[in-house]
Parts: sequence; structure tokens; C-alpha cells
Amino acid sequence: MPKTVLVIGGRTGIGKAVVIDLTEQGYDVIAASRSIASGDLPPSVRFQEYDVTGNTTLDLPEELHGLVYCPGTINLKPFKSIKLDQIREEMEVNYLGAVKVLLQCIDKLKTSGQGSAVFFSTVAVQTGMPFHSAISAAKGAVEGMVRSLAAEYAPKVRFNAIAPSLTETPLAESLLSNDRKRESNTERHPLKKIGTPKDMSEAVCYLISPRSAWVTGQILHVDGGMSSIRSL
Ligand SMILES: NC(=O)c1ccc[n+]([C@@H]2O[C@H](COP(=O)([O-])OP(=O)(O)OC[C@H]3O[C@@H](n4cnc5c(N)ncnc54)[C@H](OP(=O)(O)O)[C@@H]3O)[C@@H](O)[C@H]2O)c1
Repeated sequence: MPKTVLVIGGRTGIGKAVVIDLTEQGYDVIAASRSIASGDLPPSVRFQEYDVTGNTTLDLPEELHGLVYCPGTINLKPFKSIKLDQIREEMEVNYLGAVKVLLQCIDKLKTSGQGSAVFFSTVAVQTGMPFHSAISAAKGAVEGMVRSLAAEYAPKVRFNAIAPSLTETPLAESLLSNDRKRESNTERHPLKKIGTPKDMSEAVCYLISPRSAWVTGQILHVDGGMSSIRSL
């Protein structure tokens, strides 16, 4: 029997790469997001319309082997110009949405006896960056939750997060919208490259698979060296 993985936010960007790669690796994939267009996803993928900011529930099987939670935001603003409602929205999509999904999945992940849940943080949690106060607070909540749940649910369910730096997806479009932005963003990464959805998907597939059976409570920094290397 193939193992079943639920990918929230599997329509575009990193989530889409994850859905394609997991399907190719033989997983049974359920993808959920707010919308779908024909041809967006491989035909074997079961799609459900679901908004993490709403109050509807997912239609899920008895047992889940994996959960990947991808919805996120990039609203970079000087601290004094951020409205409280914007901070609430960041928390809603990045953190509270993840909680809502987990409450529906956790027993199903436990039932499988070898569940793995993967969330997304950002490089800006570990490394202070201007204009990131709202998103790093929301992703900081995700990191805290991941470590705590890793302890609470060991050994039945593993919890890990990936903390990317800038990755070429629809979410990051405005940061890569011309050659100048693209060049300066490439240059500021020690590995002289902007991340790709495939870079992230490789890490997700590892964390979902038994290859990472002894890894839990970790924040994996897939960030071109941004969080730990300084060029001289
Ligand atoms: N790209 C980067 O540079 C970068 C950097 C650091 C961290 N990250 C993190 O990496 C993760 C993936 O980002 P990405 O760049 O792949 O983003 P993306 O291209 O915008 O994809 C986000 C996915 O989530 C879905 N989604 C968004 N809001 C949703 C909602 N309210 N309810 C249900 N689904 C929703 C979208 O589909 P629908 O529109 O159909 O709902 C889409 O499938 C995010 O958590 C992000 O914060 C990204």
C-alpha cells in the first residue's frame, strides 16, 4: 500500500514541486489549497479546496503518513507602518492555519506509527533582517511549535521545519521582478544562487521519508548559506 501524504498549499511554488516529487516517488498525495486550475497537478493527485483561514474541515483518510504545510506570506514593512490586522493575517496563514490542520491530522499521523510532519519557517527567524518583524514572529511561532510537538509526539510522529532563504516562487515574485533585484539577491547568498522549489522539495522528501527516521525537532536551513556563513 502506498503511503499517504497531505500537502497543504500544493498548487504553486514549493508545494507544487513537493506534490510532483512525492507522486513520482510512489506516495499517494492529497493536495489542498484555495483553488486549482486544470493541469496544475499530476492526475493521480486528489485535490481538495481548502482555505487555512476559514473554518471548513478536510476530508481525510483514517491514516496519514505525512503532512507538509506550505501556505505562507511575504509582507515586508518597516515596523512603524505595520497594521495590527496585517500581523494577525501573518499569524493566521503561517501559524494558526497550521494548528487548525494539525488538529485534524495528528491522530491520523499517530495511527500510522511513523508519521512525519514538515512545516516552513524562514531564514529571517534565526538571522535578524530589517522589515521582517511580522513574518519572523509568525514563523518563530511555527519553529517553537515544531520543537515542542516533536517532544510531545515522539516516537510516533516526527516534526521538522525547513527555513528557506529567497526561493523562486509566485510568493517571491516582487523580490525578483527585474534583473537588478535578481542579481543583488543572487550575490548576497554565499552559494551565489537563488533557491528553487526543487531545492526545497528535496529537503521535504527527505524529511517525509524513512531516510530521516532519526531526525525530529530540527529546523533545516536550506538557504544558500545565508544563516551560517559570512563571506570575507
Ligand atoms: N519563496 C520564498 O522566497 C520563501 C522564503 C522563505 C520562506 N518561504 C516559505 O515557504 C512556504 C512555501 O512558499 P512558496 O514560496 O512556495 O509560496 P507560494 O508559491 O505562494 O505557494 C503557497 C501555496 O499555498 C497555498 N495557499 C496560500 N494561502 C492559502 C490559504 N489561505 N489556504 C490554503 N492554501 C493557501 C497556495 O495555493 P492557493 O492560492 O490555491 O490557495 C499555494 O499553493 C511558505 O510557508 C513561505 O512562507 C518561502
